[in-house]
Amino acid sequence: MTHPNTVLIGVPGGRAVLDTPALLIDLPALERNIAAMAAFARDRGVALRPHAKTHKSVEIARRQAVAGAVGICCATLGEAEVMVAGGIAGVLVTSPLVTPSKIARLIALNQRQTEGLMVCVDHPENVRALAEAAAGSGKPLEVIVDFSAGHNRTGCATPEALSDLVDLVRAAPALRFVGIQSYSGNLQHIPTRQARSEAAARQIEILRGIVDGLRSRGIDVPIVTGVGTGTFDLDPAAGVYTELQVGSYVFMDVDYLNALRDGRNGPPFETALFVQAAVVSLHAPSHVTIDGGLKCFATDGPKPEIVRGAPAGSLYQFSGDEHGRVLPPEGGTLGLRLGDRLEMVTPHCDPTVNLHDVYHVVDGDRLIALWPVDARGRR
Ligand SMILES: Cc1ncc(COP(=O)(O)O)c(C=O)c1O
Repeated sequence: MTHPNTVLIGVPGGRAVLDTPALLIDLPALERNIAAMAAFARDRGVALRPHAKTHKSVEIARRQAVAGAVGICCATLGEAEVMVAGGIAGVLVTSPLVTPSKIARLIALNQRQTEGLMVCVDHPENVRALAEAAAGSGKPLEVIVDFSAGHNRTGCATPEALSDLVDLVRAAPALRFVGIQSYSGNLQHIPTRQARSEAAARQIEILRGIVDGLRSRGIDVPIVTGVGTGTFDLDPAAGVYTELQVGSYVFMDVDYLNALRDGRNGPPFETALFVQAAVVSLHAPSHVTIDGGLKCFATDGPKPEIVRGAPAGSLYQFSGDEHGRVLPPEGGTLGLRLGDRLEMVTPHCDPTVNLHDVYHVVDGDRLIALWPVDARGRR
């Protein structure tokens, strides 16, 4: 199906007349973010395996690889299938895959992937099931043992449980133990840099103890993976992680812009993701209605922030599935007409992306390309 905005690609001023709502990527900002994180990792001597859960895009994963990433992380097997099909090497599935259908798909993917497919585990039953399936396939499966790291979502709850699981993986002839994952998702959005830094330091000392404990038993731990955008420059300093799994830095959303601004002269990465919507109703003097609502923006974060097309201080409010309200700044007026376009920073980038089929890649006033959100909805 041809997208209605295809005809605008390359047309001067095309950005101002897009069919809306449209998910926008500011290409120069995206490229600067990709380059900045790659340079940071290089300088600190850590590898970069960015998380594709943020963008679900083969094109962006390729650009991250060209900038120096060693691979890509995926939250779902469906994302991993899309990345492997797109030719991306070094795919790590950061969540456990436990049901028989998922294990069968994982093993089939392991047969297809020639370079470095890895999966996380956190339970002995899962290790046994993977070991059996991998043995039947004739190709070993690389396994990372996950530590809960205070996040309490997945991962072994204690260092002892993790150590036992490492032994179980190492005892399975069809599995290869390649490292530890420790992702403290609960720390990433702590709003002050000082508090985030202290919490990250405490967590890292636990991780250091785990890794040192394994190494003192003669176990090789080539990969220690974790780290999100909120602690990207806090965790590497401790010298425990061998790689960063940062995701949101490519786009930056309202929440991260606020959290990462603290303690610096500004956020270290730029906003590269926006939603453009149009005014579709002027039915009341108090506000206008635009064509971007609950099916356009994630609702688990702060409100979308209007950055273009309305007076500074105008506020967004959700107004149903397909609509939002724009309220004027205190004591001011909007002065908007039907069809006027507004652009907003997204509240939480990952789930917002998953609500859209395509990225509108823009540079200045032009639409440069449409990129599919390849792994949208893929589980
Ligand atoms: C396991 C894991 N690693 C890395 C990330 C990336 O984090 P961020 O988007 O905060 O950079 C996430 C995000 O939820 C994650 O779940």
